[in-house]
Amino acid sequence: MQLNDTRLTAAALTGAPVEAAGRSVTETIEAAGEVLAAQRICLVRGFDTDPGRFLEFLRGFGTPLANYASRSDLDKEDPHPQINRVKYKRKGEYTKQSVHYVAGGLRPHSARSWRTPRPAYFAMLMVDPGWRDTPEGERGESIVLCWRDLFGKLAERDGEEFEQHFTRLRTTPITFQANNVREDNADLPLCYELPDAAGRFDVGVRLKQDLQEKILPLEAEIPEFDAYRRALDYLVDNAADETNQVSFPLESGDLLLLDNNRFAHGRHKIVGERDRDGHVEVNPRELWSVTVR
Ligand SMILES: [Fe+2]
Repeated sequence: MQLNDTRLTAAALTGAPVEAAGRSVTETIEAAGEVLAAQRICLVRGFDTDPGRFLEFLRGFGTPLANYASRSDLDKEDPHPQINRVKYKRKGEYTKQSVHYVAGGLRPHSARSWRTPRPAYFAMLMVDPGWRDTPEGERGESIVLCWRDLFGKLAERDGEEFEQHFTRLRTTPITFQANNVREDNADLPLCYELPDAAGRFDVGVRLKQDLQEKILPLEAEIPEFDAYRRALDYLVDNAADETNQVSFPLESGDLLLLDNNRFAHGRHKIVGERDRDGHVEVNPRELWSVTVR
């Protein structure tokens, strides 16, 4: 959410980053906190790709949650118990599949969409941006989506159709589970009220990447299930529409911190592996993500 009424753009987000170079972590927290208070999203550049410093920074904003692997039977090889390593893995190199290993794009989604209480922030730190000589849109470019901007745009474009879907998504409680992790599940609507809302479209959203499949077994629990599915499809399709997203490549040392209620995150696909003179090269792209409560 922008506190003023301008919509978020990649230029605005990447044009005036907080520079971490030459600042202590405490000073970086202070500078990022000011931007966050004004925009609810902040890009920090030149941050050390060091797990301890990353977490020290995040503790300035809340409590970093334990990563997925520490709460599931996923392979435990992350750089720290609170950091998720997002890095391509070849088939056969893992025992249990995780979205953190795949090469495909990730549609806009929320961190720990199933969970209560809702995590306030989500952060990612690019360690190695990986291959940049692949086609545009296949470089793992980061995607962010400001929900308030999206709803404002859809209300203008679709009028009554938007209002019906939006009302349904705001008023139907729903409970679903994570794929790998066990935590307390929320029973909030997908679009929920925020105590400090700045306007009617400034709601929290908790969208899971695969929610369209996830709700299929919930038919008996969700009133007017078909209409609910249509409302969810409407939300997912419009969030997936690139014209509604802000997208940009993160460089090594770029740290993006965002309000997890008000922004979704995702990424374009990457090329996971390729042939080079008869042997297979694997994309070294590596990003660390942390959810903050
Ligand atoms: Fe994510």
